[in-house]
Amino acid sequence: MVSSPLRIAVFASGSGSNFQALAEAIAGGGIPAELALLVCDRPEAKVVRRAEALGVPTLLFRPKEYASREAYEREIVARLEAEGVELVVLAGYMRLITGILLNPFYGRMINIHPSLLPAFPGIGAVRQALEYGVKLTGATVHFVDGGMDTGPIIAQQAVEVLDGDTEETLAERIHAAEHELLPRVVRWMAEGRIKLDGRKVTVAKEVGP
Ligand code: GAR
Repeated sequence: MVSSPLRIAVFASGSGSNFQALAEAIAGGGIPAELALLVCDRPEAKVVRRAEALGVPTLLFRPKEYASREAYEREIVARLEAEGVELVVLAGYMRLITGILLNPFYGRMINIHPSLLPAFPGIGAVRQALEYGVKLTGATVHFVDGGMDTGPIIAQQAVEVLDGDTEETLAERIHAAEHELLPRVVRWMAEGRIKLDGRKVTVAKEVGP
């Protein structure tokens, strides 16, 4: 049986290099998925231009124009449902989310974060790691729950902190790790190989030809 590609919405607020890496990995084949929508809370962000260049539809909004977080999230959920979105990927989406958005997608919403969680959650994760003086940091992809970067961890990739690293140099190497990690996890999701059981996530082995 040939199943249809997994329909994905990416949420991003800034540059969108992870959005681009995911789009390229999907276009390169091997991931049974398609980018159905980009959701962005900053219409001037670079990620919007990337989506336009790739022909990915966008849902752009300005939070200030809404009475509450719940109000714009209701609109987003309606659009996700209309587009038949099956997986939500938060890739540099710099907003807290409420149950309005999370509940219908629990177990189908993942986030990428630039540290080895549970170390250094929240904003400024790369700076936090440098200031703390850790020798190893990295990137984490996890399911989203109601907390700040607290959901069940799917996969992590370590990045060494080098003497003389600045926030920029370290962030650059973490980004490179993210650009491999995120498409890998999305492939597992699209292949239906990820099982979530409480806080434990397992990835079924690839079945050979
Ligand atoms: C990424 O490093 C992502 O891990 C981080 O924002 C960056 C977005 O980069 N997310 C967070 O810090 C969420 N707490 P990008 O726009 O180039 O993909």
